[in-house]
Amino acid sequence: MNLSEKTQLNLLEGSQTNNLDSIPFDLTPIEMANLYTNSALLVTIMGFLKEQLWLQGKEDNKTGNNTSYRDFILPLFQKELAPVLFLKSYLLESGAKNIKKVTKNSEKIEKKVISLIIEKSFKNQKDFIIQSLSNMKELFIREETEDQGLRLYRTFDKLDDIFNLDYEQDKTLIVDPLNKERLYEGAGVGVQSGYSTILLALENIDLSEKSRIIDLGSGYGRVGLVCSLLRPDINFIGYEYVPHRVKLSNKTSESLDLEKTLKFITQDLSLDTFKIPDADVYYLYDPFTKDTYESVLKQIVEISKRKKITVVTKGNASNWLNEIANDNNWSKPVYIDDGNLCIFKSCD
Ligand SMILES: C[S@@+](CC[C@H](N)C(=O)[O-])C[C@H]1O[C@@H](n2cnc3c(N)ncnc32)[C@H](O)[C@@H]1O
Repeated sequence: MNLSEKTQLNLLEGSQTNNLDSIPFDLTPIEMANLYTNSALLVTIMGFLKEQLWLQGKEDNKTGNNTSYRDFILPLFQKELAPVLFLKSYLLESGAKNIKKVTKNSEKIEKKVISLIIEKSFKNQKDFIIQSLSNMKELFIREETEDQGLRLYRTFDKLDDIFNLDYEQDKTLIVDPLNKERLYEGAGVGVQSGYSTILLALENIDLSEKSRIIDLGSGYGRVGLVCSLLRPDINFIGYEYVPHRVKLSNKTSESLDLEKTLKFITQDLSLDTFKIPDADVYYLYDPFTKDTYESVLKQIVEISKRKKITVVTKGNASNWLNEIANDNNWSKPVYIDDGNLCIFKSCD
């Protein structure tokens, strides 16, 4: 068992979780990241166990069996619970009655670690985020490739606190009633790409060195922040209509010393006067109205005629790109995450 695993187990077993302020966290940023991702994961796992126990109860009622907690949980360590194998004895002993308590304590640990790392230097924060993202990627790839019941899409959203992505700022947004653009005002985290989407996209686009990525409608900047942290060699631009989102993402980019390679720009992409710069990868997560899609994608097709490009879509944006891929003889798209993430490549 490594130090972060021992710490997690000690915290869960002991009574210190009532007062986490009283204990010293003598962990490196890397160990803190491991403690964070394992605690966040355990919260999701506990939710999963609660749901599965309920289903088991229903099944038992039907069959007249009385499955013990041990018999219920042991097989789950083969798959869903495999990443927390170090907690096997603890979870077996704590039993079904403690699911709520384990969840609450794990949430407390998760929150505490994040609040501690926020106080550290930007270098420590960077190390923490990069290690967290690497742990998350491993888990997301398992989820994508194995047939298992855990859903990790929102498990690591607390990482937003380190990026200081304060979605509440949308409350100050006043949208002109004549404005037809899709600005998703007030929709917060629900309309930012999940960390799983971004990490799986990066894993699958085969990004060559010094590539340029453009996020068309970059929201609060999650995609750019993750890509730039993991690939410091690349150049990333995010265009976004809403100024306060741009301001906030640039502030985070600067606080993590990424500003040389990561920039967010306030821009209405529906304007014909704006020329989209050449890039190797374009990212679109359902940003536009029909008219804006048409004018933006017209430019993207023109760019694809001079250079090979990759277009990554999340959500319904793939419908638009499917049509373009067909019309321009692009290769067949790669579908990830049940088709929610699609990767299109133009021809050479
Ligand atoms: C669903 S969000 C995706 C945010 C980000 N790309 C992500 O994946 O996390 C779409 C974003 O596109 C922006 N958007 C919509 N119309 C736009 C336009 N005409 N010009 C620039 N940005 C626009 C919205 O304000 C919103 O923040």
